[in-house]
Amino acid sequence: MSIRQNRDWEIKEFEVTSESVYRSRRSLLKSMGMGGLIVGTAPLLAACEDNTPIVYENDPSAPLYPVKRNTRYVLDRPTTAENLATTYNNFYEFGSQKKIWRAAQALPLRPWLVEIDGLVEKPITIAIDDLLKKMPLEERLYRFRCVEAWSMAVPWSGFALKALVDFAKPLGSAKYLQMETFLNPKKAPGQRQGWYPWPYREGLTIAEATNELAFIATGLYGKPIPKQNGAPLRLAVPWKYGFKSVKSIARFTFTEHRPVTFWEKVQGQEYGFWANVNPKVSHRCWSQATERVLGKRGRVATQLFNGYGDYVADLYKGMEGERLYT
Ligand code: MTE
Repeated sequence: MSIRQNRDWEIKEFEVTSESVYRSRRSLLKSMGMGGLIVGTAPLLAACEDNTPIVYENDPSAPLYPVKRNTRYVLDRPTTAENLATTYNNFYEFGSQKKIWRAAQALPLRPWLVEIDGLVEKPITIAIDDLLKKMPLEERLYRFRCVEAWSMAVPWSGFALKALVDFAKPLGSAKYLQMETFLNPKKAPGQRQGWYPWPYREGLTIAEATNELAFIATGLYGKPIPKQNGAPLRLAVPWKYGFKSVKSIARFTFTEHRPVTFWEKVQGQEYGFWANVNPKVSHRCWSQATERVLGKRGRVATQLFNGYGDYVADLYKGMEGERLYT
């Protein structure tokens, strides 16, 4: 992972035109009899179109949304525009650039089987729509802080990860929950790159996974979560750097041993297991003191645990010897 520097000719996030502005601009040009101008300005308009959010339209889970918001989780800032959160993504299975949303549409979402295995009373494989029926869906507003020092704030829909842990009935010997993304190199060109340790893998301790903040997102902005954001199941752990929030999960494994995660294998010194947000602990190549909020000018101060310390700081008491913030 690295910070992607905008080249001079690229528009900045805050300059991106929203879909409504773009459409009204087109009708204004038309009404002025200047429709022909659209040809002359094609590259600019194409850039605007490229930032229109895409939602998976034939998702059988669509009637489940919107779900009721849980008002316990409040934001200290406005939510990020939908067209930014759904077009500026990290999803290496579909490329290492931020503009992967078109490529991600190749991901087939049905059938989608979720395996729950390892140290559980009874391993099972369950179809996503059956799982969704069993889980208590709600909406939560969460901040999100990427290790690359950009951030957003979005309304996730989904369920507390604890509900899935309870459903799985782990044995007392389980200490960690490992989560893995699908493996389908035919559809995901990034997975044909042999130098990455596919499938993408992440992990939490059982105490972290059952903390009330740990959330599985199945929706975004009151609709099924788009493919580029990790459909149909994606982790949201807002006190940790964004790379912990594994997308498109196909397997949950309860284990005694700490999983070696995807980025830990690639670059363990920079992207470790714990990855809790801390403005005082710099990345080897950049400071984590501030963040660029998508769609806003300037930077804001980053907070310890991304501002969620009241919920999670206790999880790490007595663990000072661990690299908790990398
Ligand atoms: N999950 C998978 N399977 N593959 C990925 O490349 N990238 C991670 C995380 N989950 C990633 C992933 C990183 S680095 C970030 S910052 C977030 O997804 C980005 O989430 P977003 O695109 O919804 O903002």
